[in-house]
Amino acid sequence: MSLISVTAGEIRRDVAAAKARDPAAKGVWALEILLTWPGVQAVLAHRVAHGLYRAGVPLLPRLIATLARSITGVEIHPGATIGPNFFIDHGMGVVIGETAEIGADVTIYQGVTLGGTGFQTGKRHPTVEDSVTIGSGAKLLGPIRVGHGSKIGANTVVIHEVPPRSTVVGNPGHPVRVEGRRVEGPDADWVHLPDPIADALKRLSRRVEAVEASTENGVVGDEFPAERQVGPNPAGG
Ligand SMILES: CC(C)(COP(=O)(O)OP(=O)(O)OC[C@H]1O[C@@H](n2cnc3c(N)ncnc32)[C@H](O)[C@@H]1OP(=O)(O)O)[C@@H](O)C(=O)NCCC(=O)NCCS
Repeated sequence: MSLISVTAGEIRRDVAAAKARDPAAKGVWALEILLTWPGVQAVLAHRVAHGLYRAGVPLLPRLIATLARSITGVEIHPGATIGPNFFIDHGMGVVIGETAEIGADVTIYQGVTLGGTGFQTGKRHPTVEDSVTIGSGAKLLGPIRVGHGSKIGANTVVIHEVPPRSTVVGNPGHPVRVEGRRVEGPDADWVHLPDPIADALKRLSRRVEAVEASTENGVVGDEFPAERQVGPNPAGG
């Protein structure tokens, strides 16, 4: 009985969240959203599955989650804890793991993973605080905490804690805004990281061009020895 009343309340709030945060839902009836928004359907199915899971009902929670996944493309483990006003836009490809915890007013887009990093047990999925937005394709891995009000950019890979009210982008995810202000400092240049493989390919390509030019000019042999690279021994020691 209480499960049914909780679900009725959640229906209203989850539909309201879609109307408030999806520009495409403006002027659309609640019933139409309920019938055709896969993200909303997945969340509502999860709320039922989670209630049954917590009540210790066997099998049924996973059956509901599996059915919801096949209809919506959103996979939420029945054990995941999800706060009110949660909105998944578009939905397809979202995966939310068993020990993930999501606060209130969180928005995520298609292709987001709240996953683990390996085969560890116990708490192994992210905790997402209130009012966080997670862009499409972002991967949040491990038992990390994403501070309230933060934004995670599309396709970002997050494996460390995210401070509150930050904007984190890139792979690896790094803050570009904290408290609305641009991050300054010597470690902030993530765009110009060294790329040893690209450097090696460029050197090789320069050498091939030089060798080709030399054979065209009738010069052969060791006129163009490989550039000697000095650096740490990759074998260690
Ligand atoms: C991360 C995001 C929330 C940032 O929004 P914002 O707070 O307005 O921040 P800005 O647009 O000012 O971007 C801040 C910086 O991050 C960079 N950036 C923004 N999004 C990025 C991303 N996904 N990947 C890499 N860099 C990104 C910007 O170029 C900017 O860099 P700068 O400081 O060098 O100028 C937004 O860009 C985003 O990715 N939203 C997800 C949207 C989405 O998934 N839509 C799917 C619709 S179907």
